[in-house]
Amino acid sequence: MAYTVPKLTDYSAAALDRASAELLAALEQDVRKLLFDSGKRSSSHEAAWKLRWEEWKSFRDKWISRKSGVLTQINDVWLKGSPKEAKRPAGQLVNDLRKRVEEEVARAEASLTRSEEEDQRASPGQSFASMDDALRTLEGVDITLPGARRPIGAEHPVMRTMHEIVGVFQRLGYSVAEGPVVETDYYNFEALNFPPDHPARDTQDTLFIAGQQSKPQRERLLLRTHTSPVQIRTMEKMRPPLRIVIPGTVHRNDPPDASHSPMFHQIEGLAVDTNITFGDLKGTLDHAMKALFGSSVKTHFRPSFFPFTEPSAEVFVSCFLCGGSGKRGADPCRPCKQSGWIEVLGCGMVDPNVFEFVKDNGYDPKKVSGFAFGMGVDRLALLKYGVDDLQYFFQGDVRFLQQFG
Ligand code: DAH
Repeated sequence: MAYTVPKLTDYSAAALDRASAELLAALEQDVRKLLFDSGKRSSSHEAAWKLRWEEWKSFRDKWISRKSGVLTQINDVWLKGSPKEAKRPAGQLVNDLRKRVEEEVARAEASLTRSEEEDQRASPGQSFASMDDALRTLEGVDITLPGARRPIGAEHPVMRTMHEIVGVFQRLGYSVAEGPVVETDYYNFEALNFPPDHPARDTQDTLFIAGQQSKPQRERLLLRTHTSPVQIRTMEKMRPPLRIVIPGTVHRNDPPDASHSPMFHQIEGLAVDTNITFGDLKGTLDHAMKALFGSSVKTHFRPSFFPFTEPSAEVFVSCFLCGGSGKRGADPCRPCKQSGWIEVLGCGMVDPNVFEFVKDNGYDPKKVSGFAFGMGVDRLALLKYGVDDLQYFFQGDVRFLQQFG
């Protein structure tokens, strides 16, 4: 491969292209020869290994050796030797070629190393005569240096809280279900007993996907505003009895601030069977809250409204930060606003109207009953880790996240 770097007299774009193409063609030929020849030889023989690496070294030196490699030559001859007005295109060309050549050399090395590893696997112990040999041939790699330390990640505090909550229900025998974030109006609203134009829809500032007006309302796409649609999706797929928890992200058109985010996390729960009562709901959630916040917390159920449950309730736990006193030492307890109670979730008995939508899959409201609940994970993570601004969770600032490592 008698490629020599030519002198350039013509620095026109066409001439530079030609020079570049010739150089790259020579490079390609060299790479092919190197890889092909080394593949052809019976590689289990020690001498063949050495030869292979000798060839590799001369290939490498020819192209990138600092003293006289092709890269150095084009820098000296094409760039330094160029007239003033051609410095810019010549510089660009030399830079581009440098990148290309270095990449090719690295690639050739990687593929030689790979085939060597393969051969070693095929005939272990037959390659280098000694460790010294191996070290010498791998010149440039100082294996006595400490290895690159790979930073170990940690679970994000929101995910950690989510897994913890899901775990509590899994230990009660619940399975985990998931569903799509881009949802239809039908699953997000209609089948959850939000009739079209019902004002309850307004409480969930919905982000709609654009350009859906030509579809019937129930097929229009939106970003799910809660994890409740997965209740319906799961009941369509699985017959009762059912016990599921549904973790996931939801979106609402809320501008970000210390306690709001357009994307946040919820965990939904659903239990359906014969004879499920409000007592089961209370007992289950009381147990779950004690498992999450400590056995001394109390729970408190207050009547509420959700279209998909009847009756519905909001659940409060006694403040696990101030023990329910509303005070921390002499100071007022801010997270519970001095009330001693923290609202943690919404729940209720599944509305018979919801079962009507999945009746054909065994959910006859005359035969089965169930309870459902839904909670926001991010706010619980805030309280649990004493973080005072929700935005920290979503900014990806390693200085913040490292504290949870
Ligand atoms: N989906 C409700 C929300 O996002 C939360 C909720 C309340 C879920 C009551 C439930 C439930 O399953 O029964 O505000």
